[in-house]
Amino acid sequence: MKSYNRTTVTAALPYANGPIHIGHLAGCYLPADIYVRYLRMRGKEVAFVCGSDEHGMAITMKARKENVTPTVIVDRYNAMMQEALSDFGVSFDIYSRTSSPKHADVASSFFKKLDEKGTFEVRETDQYYDPVAQQFLADRYITGTCPKCKSENAYGDQCEQCGATLSPMDLINPKSTLSDAAPEIRKTKNWFLPLDKLAPKIRSYIESHPNWKPNVLGQCKSWLDSGDGLQPRSMTRDLDWGVSVPIAGAEGKVLYVWFDAPLGYITATQELFGDQWEKWWKADDTRLVHFIGKDNIVFHSIIFPAILMEHGDYILPEDIPANEFLNLEGEKLSTSKNWAVWLHEYLEDFPGKQDALRYTLCATMPEAKDNDFTWSDFQLRNNSELASILGNLVNRVMVLNNKYYQGVVQELGKSSTDADLLNSIVIQRDKVSHSLDAYRFREGLSEAMNLARIGNKYLADEEPWKKIKTDPQRTSEIMGTVTQFIAALSGIFDPFIPFSAEKIRSMLGISPLLWSDLNGKVLVMPGSKVGEAKLLFEKIEDHEVETQKAKLKKTS
Ligand code: 2FM
Ligand code: ZN
Repeated sequence: MKSYNRTTVTAALPYANGPIHIGHLAGCYLPADIYVRYLRMRGKEVAFVCGSDEHGMAITMKARKENVTPTVIVDRYNAMMQEALSDFGVSFDIYSRTSSPKHADVASSFFKKLDEKGTFEVRETDQYYDPVAQQFLADRYITGTCPKCKSENAYGDQCEQCGATLSPMDLINPKSTLSDAAPEIRKTKNWFLPLDKLAPKIRSYIESHPNWKPNVLGQCKSWLDSGDGLQPRSMTRDLDWGVSVPIAGAEGKVLYVWFDAPLGYITATQELFGDQWEKWWKADDTRLVHFIGKDNIVFHSIIFPAILMEHGDYILPEDIPANEFLNLEGEKLSTSKNWAVWLHEYLEDFPGKQDALRYTLCATMPEAKDNDFTWSDFQLRNNSELASILGNLVNRVMVLNNKYYQGVVQELGKSSTDADLLNSIVIQRDKVSHSLDAYRFREGLSEAMNLARIGNKYLADEEPWKKIKTDPQRTSEIMGTVTQFIAALSGIFDPFIPFSAEKIRSMLGISPLLWSDLNGKVLVMPGSKVGEAKLLFEKIEDHEVETQKAKLKKTS
């Protein structure tokens, strides 16, 4: 096993064309954040970079719909997305944007380097042109019938029905979405990345990572082994929104958004570290990990690595723990149908309850297959797990400490049940580590909750509320032990529900913990005074859940 000294963690740059919903959070930002918080607690050197993806059709289509410039769209949603992600505790070290002049420099110089090396094949190809709108049509501006599944609304680059990757010429009965006109074919020159020639190198790169998640490897294999194999892909587009292609003869063209966007990770890192950025992308002892949703797999496992390999100076992605999709109440999330839970709206309805959503989304994260978010499940997990198990334990400990000892922390007990309780911290911590190291976030969370269950059992077995009358000495030991235990619980839950972990720490008057602190040792000084008990998780009432369900029905 190779050893690494630092980790560059990226989370997919979201298109700045709409607000963030729970699918984005569960698919990529939440797992990335849990992972990074965990690495930081382990004292690892880590950089967590993200930003808005502000080019491509996703943006121009939205601008066209609203009859505004793309700049209006990206400015609006960049601010909105950044705020929502930060409100939910997603702890990026930097949140950048790909419309910045610096990013144009980074992407241009990458393109120039590949051009000088002779990587690209310049090809004149037939492209669809809209004679009414008088412009070449980007793949997304053409719809038609999917040749594979016959769905009628496939886009020129992809069929959302069956997931097939397409090229516009594959579509049956193509139509321009700009004018509804049938497009004509015209010749144009573009710069292609010869993925066909690079295929053997890409294959051996992918095969050298047999530990990738099966859903990721599965997609990679199906690309590599598909009938025609990998095909050259154009890295330039006949559009006016994007980074201008920086070479003579390419006037009026821009870089393909999937050429420029992943380079946005590099730009963000440069902004973060200034002239110290290079080791995060070029040093052999740096591990590069991309958190993404499943629709981004091919770009991160094949196209971006191919670009990096061709450049030559960069490390390649070491892991790509992509998630599948989250559904909502049994149906696909859809921005256009407004079938979504938007983060900013959630916070209006459930102020301060970020962790209830983080917890539910982590517990139902679509790690291996698509999964469903339901409001009933949200209520159940909040009420019978967060509130009843974790919240209740912390609350009882705080209330009893105040009631019996005016908040003064007691000494640890020395009985075998006390030792077992403290020992369980190490055991569960290591289980959580094992899960998180393998990107199994659901499993990690459930092991953390198991630790809270162990604490509840200890308290139920020890019954300090009875012993206080008969055995004050033993009661003091029980309370001393369980107080240290809830401090450790705040640590083990910290990556998952950081707001609540911080609340526990602030009740106990302690600073943030490291993973190595979760070893059964004293974390709150005996003799120090803890604060009042504060409610960690309020119950979610039936009517609140009904309101949310009704809201979905109303707007869809
Ligand atoms: O799917 C998306 O939302 C893309 N904007 C993700 C880009 S990831 C990266 F490469 F920038
Ligand atoms: Zn299809």
